Amino acid sequence: MCGIVGYIGRRAAYPILIKGLHRLEYRGYDSAGVALINEQGKLNVYKAKGKVSQLEAYAADKDTGGTIGIAHTRWATHGEPNAVNAHPHYSESERLAIIHNGIIENYAVLKAGLQKEGYTFKSETDTEVLVQLIEYTQLNKHVDLKTAVQLALQQVIGAYAIAILDKDHPDTLIAARKGSPLVVGIGEGEYFLASDATPIVEYTDQVIYIEDEEVVVLTVNSQLSILNYQLSTINGVEKTPEIKRLELSLSQLEKGGYPHFMLKEIFEQPRTLTDSMRGRVNVRQDNIALSGFIDNKDRFLNAKRIIITACGTSWHAGLIAMYAIEEFAQIPVEVEYSSEFRYRKPVINKDDVVIAISQSGETADTLAAIQLAKSKGAFIFSICNVIGASIPRLSDSGCYTHVGPEIGVASTKAFTAQVVALTMLALCIGREKGTLAPDQYLRIVRELGQIPDKIERVLSQNKRIADFAKTFTYAQNFIYLGRGYNYPVALEGALKLKEISYIHAEGYPAAEMKHGPIALISQEMPVVVVAPHCGTYEKVVSNIQEIKARKGRVIAVVTEGDEVVSKIADYTIEIPETEECLTPLLTVIPLQLMAYHIAVVKGCDVDQPRNLAKSVTVE
Ligand code: AGP
Repeated sequence: MCGIVGYIGRRAAYPILIKGLHRLEYRGYDSAGVALINEQGKLNVYKAKGKVSQLEAYAADKDTGGTIGIAHTRWATHGEPNAVNAHPHYSESERLAIIHNGIIENYAVLKAGLQKEGYTFKSETDTEVLVQLIEYTQLNKHVDLKTAVQLALQQVIGAYAIAILDKDHPDTLIAARKGSPLVVGIGEGEYFLASDATPIVEYTDQVIYIEDEEVVVLTVNSQLSILNYQLSTINGVEKTPEIKRLELSLSQLEKGGYPHFMLKEIFEQPRTLTDSMRGRVNVRQDNIALSGFIDNKDRFLNAKRIIITACGTSWHAGLIAMYAIEEFAQIPVEVEYSSEFRYRKPVINKDDVVIAISQSGETADTLAAIQLAKSKGAFIFSICNVIGASIPRLSDSGCYTHVGPEIGVASTKAFTAQVVALTMLALCIGREKGTLAPDQYLRIVRELGQIPDKIERVLSQNKRIADFAKTFTYAQNFIYLGRGYNYPVALEGALKLKEISYIHAEGYPAAEMKHGPIALISQEMPVVVVAPHCGTYEKVVSNIQEIKARKGRVIAVVTEGDEVVSKIADYTIEIPETEECLTPLLTVIPLQLMAYHIAVVKGCDVDQPRNLAKSVTVE
């Protein structure tokens, strides 16, 4: 959470920083700030509560000159969202300014020590402690700023991506990371710095991904002719940076005529899933080749158990994978919330395969879960969307989903691509183990190739979904029900509604309703039932009857041609017939659309819902 951006070069820094903050706003948006050193050597810091646009309004009549600067968009952890707690933070002498993404866990101890030395604090943040500690270290040890940063970071417990400006060195920008992402862009006579590549992409495609416990010093001399970067660890070991080419285009970051990124991303799914399958499902649609599996076949074939770990929507994709892997590969699967897994002293064996799922590849809990499993010798396979992110870099092998940047905070296209990737993996293991019959394998692979067209058919019902969604904006609560492969879809539908419309929603396995939730049913209660033609269809129909008998209002997702549910449900949305294991790829689409339209009618900020951030890089 939190987005950081920095610039040093020959151009005016402020417009570049502000544009960068807008790109990173998905990471947090409760306050924002910028620090610039102007031509006269003055360090100006401007901060405002709220979104980046509020910072722009605040800074409109201020001096925003300078060719070096840092900027931050915040998702509050320590201290409420306000202008004082917003970054950048000054050091005691106001010579240094810092921005930070992450959490300094031992900030209280460090702060108490600094207070004894006479240091005063203006904010409630952990970040201010860090900039004070750097200044204190520099003054006491009589070292240069880079060394002071290294020494200070050696004392820090926690996660950070930081950037620091020094008023006395307007030609230098220093940054470091541990646990939070940081990318350096190398332009012509200029450097960029950001939490991810989105603020950098329009200026350069040459980047360096900073690794944990590395410090980078970016220097542009006064004639702007000499550009220099130095990379070292916080322990002072010099390193040679590896320059990579960015695979990201500007058009991928724009709304393309849609009112919101979320709607664009929902409608992109036929194409993004085609991209996810490209080069993996062959043109005859009779075989799947996943290089991450092929290269490590034995680890999967010898696995006694597969542990899937993830958070939020990615965890829901993991649940669907549990059904597929157990059905096709007959390997026991456990699906774990990363946040629980990392702390509950789980039994992990050397022959376990751990599959980590993450859109961003930066989720702190999932990273920690991987580190734990790795330390016990398990093989780590990750499913990730962001190329070069921390999770794939920490994994032994994996599979990128290739859906392009997902900007809407509510995950949509990343989820369906995760399900596709995991289904492909389950099919590969099953075929190789001989636990999946060749004709069933072939049927599912063929059907996988048809999914993009079938999603188009579901998307064509958007107008009707938008119309009936209006009727439900009154609701305070929703229940979502599903069974088997579609139980995780019920959870995902409920999560989508909660996060963007602020309506309370719960997902349940349909058969669990009679064990409690049925008490909630009344004519006020909308119940979304995911009821495609699957093994448990008849039983789900009985659940719908039970809801109707208690006057609940039923919105059902059914298979085309269903004549039973359509007669009893209040609203039905049809999906084309497909293999049972692939139904989630179709049934989730109307639930994404319904959540979207309810949120829009309620006037909610769909792309940036309150209190949320796209990438959860703190615990
Ligand atoms: C999804 O809509 C959420 N915003 C959230 O649950 C998300 O899926 C979760 O934070 C995990 O993120 P990751 O996939 O980037 O690890």
